[in-house]
Amino acid sequence: MSKIKILVTRRVPRECLDLLEPHFDIDHFNRDVAMERKTLLKRVKDKEGVLCMLTDAVNGELLAAAPKLTAVSTYSVGYDHIDVSACAARGVLVTNTPGVLTESTADFTWALLLAAARRVVEGDGHMRGGKYKGWDPLLLLGTDVFGKTLGVVGFGRIGQAVSKRASGFSMRVLYHDPRRAAPEVEEALNARYVSLDELLRESDFVSIHTVLDSATHHLIGTRAFGLMKPSATIINAARGPIVDEKALVKALKTRKIRGAGLDVYEWEPRMASGLASCRRAVLAPHLASASLETRTKMGVMAAQGLIDGLIRRVRSPYRVDS
Ligand code: DGY
Repeated sequence: MSKIKILVTRRVPRECLDLLEPHFDIDHFNRDVAMERKTLLKRVKDKEGVLCMLTDAVNGELLAAAPKLTAVSTYSVGYDHIDVSACAARGVLVTNTPGVLTESTADFTWALLLAAARRVVEGDGHMRGGKYKGWDPLLLLGTDVFGKTLGVVGFGRIGQAVSKRASGFSMRVLYHDPRRAAPEVEEALNARYVSLDELLRESDFVSIHTVLDSATHHLIGTRAFGLMKPSATIINAARGPIVDEKALVKALKTRKIRGAGLDVYEWEPRMASGLASCRRAVLAPHLASASLETRTKMGVMAAQGLIDGLIRRVRSPYRVDS
């Protein structure tokens, strides 16, 4: 019997392919760049399953180009690139990779926060640029982290894992989310539920961990920067369009806020004009889940999602979960 045809849209870890190969006839775009849209639409035509990346929009256009498609598994926890309702209407199962990247994403959020607070990247440039002339009391002064206030926007798995780490820095934690957490979670994380405005006014570090949807698009823009302290730093390791990036550049340049730590961008992979020259912005290329262990676990989970959907025929419930 011929095997089910699937498309894998990027180079992935060996462990992911090892799981898929016994079950599927794999069309593998084995490259480190996103497939061009027209190539993707062409190659998806005869496929029943797709293992895609967050750079592949799975929308009406793709569904129309893939009449045999019955399962899509994304190599990410975020699924804002997938029109889940259109998939559901077509009976296409959608799965993602929740849980396995929570801790590494939280670690990286702290890497951005600490690097932005203590000017680690500027210090590195100073050394490599041969500018260091010896200890100086006023050289590259940053701002302390311990004892400060952390504001967490979006209190799901990742927001909570970020908050957990704040206790090691004796920080006060404020959070905002459409849903208030259970009292035992608040108590365990020593986190106080506040309105978004209060969080923005009070926090020294504002860290974004919400999903991207129509309610959170540009949630942080000119108004939000106006509420933040001039000494505050914004961290975004969630999705770029949650922050109005042009407004962010303006807020940094006019010193409305002190700094930023960014892993995601509004028009990824591009950056808003002027962002690259903001010295107080620490910029990473969407690396929050990029540890060898975590990206391997994500690949295994994404492969398992296709096996569940296409071989085990687990049709319900739709497994997308953030
Ligand atoms: C995700 O999984 O959604 C991240 O953005 C990439 O790991």
